Amino acid sequence: MKSDPTQSLKHIAIIMDGNGRWARKRGLPRIKGHNAAEKSIHDAVEVCGQIGVEYLTLYAFSTENWSRPKTEVSFIMKLLSRFIKGNIEELDRKNVKIRTTGRLLDLPDGPRNDLEAAIKQTASNTGLHLILALSYGGKAELLDAFVQIASSVSDGHLTPGDITEEMISSNLYNPDVPDPELVIRTSGEQRLSNFLIWQSAYSELVFTPVLWPDFHAEQLNEAIAEFRSRKRRFGGLE
Ligand code: FPP
Repeated sequence: MKSDPTQSLKHIAIIMDGNGRWARKRGLPRIKGHNAAEKSIHDAVEVCGQIGVEYLTLYAFSTENWSRPKTEVSFIMKLLSRFIKGNIEELDRKNVKIRTTGRLLDLPDGPRNDLEAAIKQTASNTGLHLILALSYGGKAELLDAFVQIASSVSDGHLTPGDITEEMISSNLYNPDVPDPELVIRTSGEQRLSNFLIWQSAYSELVFTPVLWPDFHAEQLNEAIAEFRSRKRRFGGLE
């Protein structure tokens, strides 16, 4: 496999799928699969830090995930709090800057407050931006951007003809974050499921059958090697 180590890789985005199936395969309740997800998150942060990736976005909870059974939603929210509280000191020491994307106001007060404290504590860190996508939906993000732009039009600050792609990008939740060059989905499913749908227009997609709790440093490095073997033409010619 020919590889281009100079291919820019600032932002990796991951759809962490397959926790439930991982648990079922072992005869365990689904929540055990979410528990087991933590080690894979650690590994992803570690690998990104080692190779100088600047942004890692993890799809932790989608706008659609609210339709799961109440007990599972409540478990994931508790896990989120536990993850933040249990890892904040180490992440801070590693110079990781914690951020989020999504409709954070939808989250229960507990995890939202824990997240806000973690964001504050790590705000001046200069290493990896770890972006947790929570109550995130790509369509919701675009809708929120369009509503903002439409209100500038109705105020008379803009005309429809002034609207550009850059303006849409700059009205997304995190306008400073570059588009992901690489989007990975674990567990064998091959779709984006409403994840970063605007930002991934030209992303390289890597789908792996490995379930998220089994996706460790070795598997992430393999996905990165696959990315490096791709020719990125952005619609042009080589
Ligand atoms: C996908 O597996 C996983 C989720 C929808 C939730 C992901 C949540 C976590 C990894 C934990 C919380 C987040 C952090 C940052 C600690 P699935 O349940 O859809 O698996 P399945 O498709 O096999 O059922």
